[in-house]
Amino acid sequence: MDSLSIRPDQWLEPVDFRSFFEHPERPFEIDLGCGKGRFLLARAAKFPEINFLGIDRMLNRIRKIDKKALRKSLSNIRLFRVDGYYAVTYLLPPSSVDTCYIFYPDPWPKGKHHHNRLFNEPFMNALARTLKPGGKLHASTDHLPYFEEIYALLKNDKRFEETGTFYPSEDEVTDFELIFAHKTPGRCSFIRKEG
Ligand SMILES: C[S@@+](CC[C@H](N)C(=O)[O-])C[C@H]1O[C@@H](n2cnc3c(N)ncnc32)[C@H](O)[C@@H]1O
Repeated sequence: MDSLSIRPDQWLEPVDFRSFFEHPERPFEIDLGCGKGRFLLARAAKFPEINFLGIDRMLNRIRKIDKKALRKSLSNIRLFRVDGYYAVTYLLPPSSVDTCYIFYPDPWPKGKHHHNRLFNEPFMNALARTLKPGGKLHASTDHLPYFEEIYALLKNDKRFEETGTFYPSEDEVTDFELIFAHKTPGRCSFIRKEG
């Protein structure tokens, strides 16, 4: 896949990632912390009429997904190596995302590391900014204390409303979920309300 970098003068400006797809008008979904891409690749193959952006900060993971997407001729995937919080806060245009998947975000289990977690109040503002009204967030993690924190943040935020939980099909289960299949993850789904 061709690569594209962002000029320094664009670092805090929204970039319309939808325009990088062959059909920019199609629904736009992001997999934040897409890891090795099992979910992203399966989903993109199954829904060719949806544009998928995989975001991860690990370059080797992004490269591997890129190779697999090319091998499978998936033209509806784009990949972005960047910090997810930064992308959702600044780079993705406001009200641009139809669905955001966040599966197994790093739990940073030690108390002194909790400040590294993705979900917190500023991230809620970033999500509210970037999801379209009616857009969905699907989250899961096997780290149940972190799940309780994520769920409480969403449940207590008036900009979001709980909706039917999203369950990935067998072929879509993420790489991390395969490893931790013996654990039952916490899962939740919320809609970005209008206004
Ligand atoms: C535990 S793995 C889960 C990967 C995948 N979602 C899954 O379920 O298999 C977390 C992934 O998120 C990425 N990640 C962690 N923090 C991130 C951040 N702030 N921005 C972008 N990616 C991040 C890591 O590089 C890693 O690939």
